[in-house]
Amino acid sequence: MEYKRFSGSKKEVSVIGIGTWMLENTSESIEAIRYAIQNKVTFIDTAEIYGTEPIVREAIKGMDREKLFIATKVWPTHFSHSGVIKACKASLSNLGIDYIDLYQLHWPNRKVSIKETMAAMEELVGEGLVRHIGVSNFSLDEMKEAQDALSKYELASNQVEYNVVTREIEPDLYNYCMENSIAIIAYSPLAHGYIFKGKLFEELSKIGSKYGKTAGQIALNWVASRNAFPIPKASSIKHAKEDIEALDFKLDEEDMDAVSALYAKYPKKSLAAERRESKGFNNSYDFSSESAEQV
Ligand SMILES: NC(=O)c1ccc[n+]([C@@H]2O[C@H](COP(=O)([O-])OP(=O)(O)OC[C@H]3O[C@@H](n4cnc5c(N)ncnc54)[C@H](OP(=O)(O)O)[C@@H]3O)[C@@H](O)[C@H]2O)c1
Repeated sequence: MEYKRFSGSKKEVSVIGIGTWMLENTSESIEAIRYAIQNKVTFIDTAEIYGTEPIVREAIKGMDREKLFIATKVWPTHFSHSGVIKACKASLSNLGIDYIDLYQLHWPNRKVSIKETMAAMEELVGEGLVRHIGVSNFSLDEMKEAQDALSKYELASNQVEYNVVTREIEPDLYNYCMENSIAIIAYSPLAHGYIFKGKLFEELSKIGSKYGKTAGQIALNWVASRNAFPIPKASSIKHAKEDIEALDFKLDEEDMDAVSALYAKYPKKSLAAERRESKGFNNSYDFSSESAEQV
């Protein structure tokens, strides 16, 4: 496993993380997470809205917590000052831990001042309940606003949709993150399963056959080669094993170019772009009518 320092973090973090959105609460899922940790994955991503924090709690039982880098997210309906504090405490309790390594704002919410939200996030860091502050699904401008709203700590990361066929973050947001030491956490690194279909799958598999690797491993290797942290979700040990073994080889230049060229042939719009284009949606929800049940 490859490790990198996560933005300003003291801990080294495994380049491959574990995604948990839509992970079912079954012994197979829990075993898949445990298998990944036993095989040197240290980075686990969850969110209050996923309802998977208790699954993570179960999976990390008996593990060395200090070695793990646990990331969760606060849902935008909780972006008021008191909402953030309350949501964080609920997540800590759901996860059975006494600090969160990375606490992320899940989506931007224009209804609440980012200054108010970030003041609460900084308070949590000050109290030792959170180590690093991140955002997710923030555009470049929104990310800069988030940075400006922080007065004591640096913005550590932006978690965005990024994979071989979803690359809207390039070049602007991508370059800005690279130049400013903001980690890019690549969500849906397997394009939510889309890469396992049709001609795209065939092309990735063909490249993979040169290395004795699968289509999924080529896709994850490409994301990691772009200096992002892919967080695939795997519900079984079989998938987790394959995902973890995606970094023990290097794509040569020609194949790196061939994988990069797939975007032009099979582009897949990001969730954020789809929402941006849907009626009345401006890359932020109207969260006023929603609530997260975990809090
Ligand atoms: N911040 C956000 O707004 C946001 C949004 C979406 C996702 N995320 C995060 O990113 C994580 C990953 O994204 P995702 O769940 O959308 O999609 P993904 O990881 O790109 O793809 C998951 C799909 O790929 C399958 N898979 C995994 N490993 C495989 C393998 N080796 N061979 C064949 N199939 C494999 C999984 O099947 P099985 O389940 O059967 O193993 C699942 O159907 C999430 O779990 C979540 O933590 C964040």
